[in-house]
Amino acid sequence: MTKVIKKISEWKKIRNSEELKNKTVGFVPTMGAFHQGHASLIERCLIENNISVVSIFVNPTQFNDPNDLRNYPRTLDSDLKLLEKMNVDYLLYPEYEEIYSDNYRYKIIETDFSKKLCGAFRPKHFEGVLTIVLKLFNIVKPHKAYFGEKDYQQLKLIEGMCKAFFMDIEIVPCPIVRDEDGLALSSRNLLLTNEERKIAVNFPKLLKARMPNELIKEELEKLGFKVDYIENLEGRRFGAVHIGKVRLIDNVEL
Ligand code: PAF
Repeated sequence: MTKVIKKISEWKKIRNSEELKNKTVGFVPTMGAFHQGHASLIERCLIENNISVVSIFVNPTQFNDPNDLRNYPRTLDSDLKLLEKMNVDYLLYPEYEEIYSDNYRYKIIETDFSKKLCGAFRPKHFEGVLTIVLKLFNIVKPHKAYFGEKDYQQLKLIEGMCKAFFMDIEIVPCPIVRDEDGLALSSRNLLLTNEERKIAVNFPKLLKARMPNELIKEELEKLGFKVDYIENLEGRRFGAVHIGKVRLIDNVEL
């Protein structure tokens, strides 16, 4: 049975209890709307730790677009079923008021990499991400935390924050999980119409193509995508596109 914890004080009691003493705690922070990508993080967390904690918190401070926040898929019932099926020990499901009792007066700001790639198109997005991740880390106190490589920039920024602040948490990167046709799994895929979903498959295909970035951008635009960026960095090609109202990101090793 997965124990659902809403109050931070309740979790703290458990975290400090005899039951968890000398146990390793693994943590998968999420915004819910689970897919196989989440399941793969959770599976690894279950294998590598004595106790597994998953959080679901749709974090408003990382949404630069209020419509995106409003439309973000919320599927708590089926999420909970998956956690129970997988035998996850705890689901942390906190309320905004508790997490942001400071009214977001305190935040974590990275001044360089967070301004590139997605950061250039989503102002203040990574401030919200780093702030919530730090808060959740301080609440959960995990030994290891699991992040997907689809959000590669997020992963690198979280690794950097842990190093910068001497945090004793091992960040475990997990490979991108893709649908059979190659589209990277994302909670936002749920928002695609059937027609958009068919077109979306061209995004990973073109990202992998041996073509200059400018040409990839042109091809995507011809197919109806609005392209935020296609950029190479440190041996990877990164992309962010819009199809209809949905923004998709992906990256591939070159
Ligand atoms: O990747 C996500 O789902 C979110 O950005 C995270 C890490 C849970 C922070 O809200």
